[in-house]
Amino acid sequence: MNSISVFAPASVANVSCGFDILGFCLEGVGDHFLLEKADHKNIRFKAILGQELPMDPAKNVAGIAAQALLKEYPVDFGIDITLKKGIKPGSGIGSSSASAVGIVYALNKMLGLGLKKNELLPFAMAGESFASGSAHADNIAPALLGGFTLVRSVEPMDIVQLPSPSNLYAAVIHPQIEIKTSDARAVLSNTVDFKDSIQQSANLGALISGLYTEDYELIRRSLVDLLVEPKRAPLIPHFYEMKNAALEMGALGASISGAGPSLFALTQGKTNAEKAATAMANILKSTDIPFEIWVSPINTKGTITTDDHEIF
Ligand code: HSE
Repeated sequence: MNSISVFAPASVANVSCGFDILGFCLEGVGDHFLLEKADHKNIRFKAILGQELPMDPAKNVAGIAAQALLKEYPVDFGIDITLKKGIKPGSGIGSSSASAVGIVYALNKMLGLGLKKNELLPFAMAGESFASGSAHADNIAPALLGGFTLVRSVEPMDIVQLPSPSNLYAAVIHPQIEIKTSDARAVLSNTVDFKDSIQQSANLGALISGLYTEDYELIRRSLVDLLVEPKRAPLIPHFYEMKNAALEMGALGASISGAGPSLFALTQGKTNAEKAATAMANILKSTDIPFEIWVSPINTKGTITTDDHEIF
């Protein structure tokens, strides 16, 4: 293949009781890649559009993920990469993961390697680890595979794909303040209360059951995070006001998306997601914090090949 274009979506990690292990994939927001065979012998970024990011592949999430894959599957030609970032780094909706999975998915297709999506995850993980400073796969797995995913283990990589209830929607708000993942991890304790850990496991088990049975009321009761949200909420101005506003509009649950500052709310139906998004937005409208909002069904496709050459 001489060229390929790919879309890698945003994702929500840390789905309430599933810190570091449970994530889901969003629709309509993400990164676009165009890869083209070139006469030179290097892998290089021809352009990065939408965000200011290093063009040096050794200093860039997508470049590092690409190098990890090409170390195992070397090529004797050059590749020009154009990356159009649709996700702001540090937003909490898997910006680095989209870049990491998009490039390895595109390379797999372009080089005709025939690797399954699951087999691509370790290469994407190399990019993600560089970006966040720790190895967690709760964004790369849903961004690549789509739907809800559970990371049973990172080493060795063991990902469980979960069903997505057809009428489950997400409202996501991104308050445009900066929170570094490393800072959001620094506020966490190394120990947890035993009783809280039992309740957290019960919530996670019940949430997964609710996904299988499409039991929205069970999902509602289970979307509770006793361990991480209370520690990280103070990093996000107006967090509880936004969360409560979404819940008052009927959201099944709401919490911090990834390491923040974004929040997600899960709802039954699109109308409820729109109401939750508006309610969260109204909180920030009364402040000077700029924000973006998205309403999305659960994207079950994950990263895909597109015909979008013209968007570059
Ligand atoms: N699980 C990760 C964290 C997601 O919260 O630190 C952010 O990359």
